[in-house]
Amino acid sequence: PTTRVYNLTVSEIQAAPDGVVRTLLVFNGQFPGPLIEANRGDRLLINVTNTLQNATTVHWHGLYQNGTNWMDGTSGVTQCPIPPGKSFLYNFTLENQYGTYWYHSHFQTQYSDGLVGPLIIHAPDEASIRVGYDFDQIILLSDWYHDLSASLLPGYLASGNENLEPVPDNGLIQGTNYFNCSSYDPDSGYICQDNSTQASFVVSQNKRYRFRLINTGSFGEFQFSVDNHTLTVIEADSTLVEPVTVHRLPIHIAQRYSVIIHTNQTATNYWIRAWLNTFCFGDDNLPVLNPNVLALLTYTNTTYEPLDTESVDWTTALELQCQDLNVTELVPLVAEDAPSPDQAFRIDVSFQIHDYAIDLAYINSTTWVPLTVPTLNQAITGLHADNATFNNLGLSTAFPSSQFIITVPELQVIDLLINSLDEGAHPFHLHGYQFWIMADGSSGDFDWSTYESLNITNPMRRDTMTIDAYGWAMIRIRADNPGLWALHCHIAWHMEAGLLMQFQIRNDLMKEWTLPSDVAALCNG
Ligand code: C2O
Repeated sequence: PTTRVYNLTVSEIQAAPDGVVRTLLVFNGQFPGPLIEANRGDRLLINVTNTLQNATTVHWHGLYQNGTNWMDGTSGVTQCPIPPGKSFLYNFTLENQYGTYWYHSHFQTQYSDGLVGPLIIHAPDEASIRVGYDFDQIILLSDWYHDLSASLLPGYLASGNENLEPVPDNGLIQGTNYFNCSSYDPDSGYICQDNSTQASFVVSQNKRYRFRLINTGSFGEFQFSVDNHTLTVIEADSTLVEPVTVHRLPIHIAQRYSVIIHTNQTATNYWIRAWLNTFCFGDDNLPVLNPNVLALLTYTNTTYEPLDTESVDWTTALELQCQDLNVTELVPLVAEDAPSPDQAFRIDVSFQIHDYAIDLAYINSTTWVPLTVPTLNQAITGLHADNATFNNLGLSTAFPSSQFIITVPELQVIDLLINSLDEGAHPFHLHGYQFWIMADGSSGDFDWSTYESLNITNPMRRDTMTIDAYGWAMIRIRADNPGLWALHCHIAWHMEAGLLMQFQIRNDLMKEWTLPSDVAALCNG
């Protein structure tokens, strides 16, 4: 194992990823942020320096942080944010996992403004699949706004209408995309430079490319495809899966897929398409200004044939008889059976119009509001003072009612039924774990009479899954990773509207903990 040192400076810049100038928040002056890459077992030392006017944190999406819960980077849960002008050293090891991950700010909706980057962990186990491809390419997809999220948020939270999330203006592939400046009136206030470009991924003929797709967006799901090429899916989040070949796959916020593309075609250029699924976007009067989210797959050793950006045919592409990935059929390559459960919990997820017409998200009757003193810090103090406070399995009563916390004091296997009463799909993410997907449905409710007979043979495991509109999912974890772990909808707006709950796991281990002094000191400003 090696110790790898990275420095991430968080700053504010003016840039025009798609030609429209705006303020971005970025790592090391770059958008998207730099690649962090390591081997399993390595230690990462990542020094984050905050030069913003606001506080920030960095979360390592999908990393277990086993024994270093306070390095998870979750504002209000595992740390106080890094104050303006200060630095914080994230220090953790990469045990028992490898694959495609990413990192992002976990403070308010800040990551929407550009604080995202890829994180890849390699392991010797990867060798067996590496024989199946020649090149490894990371591709970041995201929806994109032309305004700072902090300026969009008040309108969302005060709309008085449910589910009126800000509608993205564009979508980006590798941080860029075409945008037609005539979408804006000259007096719109936006500075639009008519020089936007598309990303181009240059390939050689008759090779195999592993595309590691990461949806780093804030709101929208994409349907990803490459014209004239099939996608062989080999990884979902960081789980290697039995290969399945499709033409198109859905990728929701925070999810990752690795696909193998065989460059067996003859023309120079093919469209890489990320169709922004606008189906659930609340307001038909506010269309996405540019839903044509495109990049080029460019063959080097062919006769040049350009593609026309202005007249891309989406209708045929979308109506094509094509094989879509059915995510419920994914099977982990490394089989692991689900253990039998000790306890099951149920949460109902909804949006309700609150007093004064401010709409908020609810998990059962709770709307999450981040506490000034993170729940981890409070739990450690509480466990030192009084073991009895957290002794009962189930809902913690030791916190204010804004914190919906399921406490699992000792090693147990836990089922959580997430039941959505909302008309939109929600990408749910659990920190610190991969969960088994025991069952899910796109309507109705879980039938408890099937509970005893759920398939436990190698069910799919991942860290972010889409729960359909009015749908549900039963997820299972072996609660072996101690700490406070967020479970939330990864749509930036929804988390900020309160769609977040927590698990408090292994009091027996946590009560031995003392917060490292640099982590504790963050709360002193
Ligand atoms: Cu990508 Cu709560 O995280």
